[in-house]
Amino acid sequence: MGSAEITVRKIQKGTLTNQECLDFALKVKNTTGRIARIVGALRSLARKDFDDPFIRIKVDDLIQSVMDLVTEKMETNQIQFIVEKYPRELEIYCRPIQIEHVLMNLINNAFDAVREAEKRVIRVEIKTLPKNMIQIIVEDSGPGIPPEIQDRIMDPFFTTKDVRQGTGLGLSISAAIVNDHNGRLYLAKNQPQTQFILELPNN
Ligand SMILES: Nc1ncnc2c1ncn2[C@@H]1O[C@H](COP(=O)(O)OP(=O)(O)OP(=O)(O)O)[C@@H](O)[C@H]1O
Ligand SMILES: [Mg+2]
Repeated sequence: MGSAEITVRKIQKGTLTNQECLDFALKVKNTTGRIARIVGALRSLARKDFDDPFIRIKVDDLIQSVMDLVTEKMETNQIQFIVEKYPRELEIYCRPIQIEHVLMNLINNAFDAVREAEKRVIRVEIKTLPKNMIQIIVEDSGPGIPPEIQDRIMDPFFTTKDVRQGTGLGLSISAAIVNDHNGRLYLAKNQPQTQFILELPNN
């Protein structure tokens, strides 16, 4: 808004140079782009998905939808995307769109982490736990998360990415969704590779 105001004032005075015009316009463009992404992310949280019914769904169906969304992007970027074998009949009780959203956030974070790494592998593993819980692990071969920021990664707006890239809302929105499912989302400690663990009750 400040840049737009200065631009208007300078045009009225007849003192706006081409370079200033370009600088101010780029500032406005980048900032509104960022605002649009934040609003988009917040809308997805506020969206009616929170009113969607909980249904019983095969984990296989969830994984297949996620694969449809990511396979091409992984191939194009020469990232090995592995889904370990899991029992086909496994089911969870959830709002599927929201859980897909969480998985996409985790996979996109993994994607950003490995994109520039020498070894580019993202691995998804699904396990059953006692007490009717299932665990979906998203692991990547990226550089990891420095210990000094690990406590902050779930905070809203915390990001280490370029302002044009990340809103810092991915993990906080995912955590809100998972809490609403009586599940847990956390970064695994003491693992050789970065692992985010999503735990959900299957009934
Ligand atoms: N797999 C990962 N490897 C390394 N760092 C990660 C990983 N996942 C998350 N992070 C760190 O946590 C921060 C917060 O992640 P979060 O998903 O909330 O936001 P973001 O990815 O920066 O932005 P957005 O999700 O809006 O694109 C990231 O900026 C990054 O520093
Ligand atoms: Mg993210």
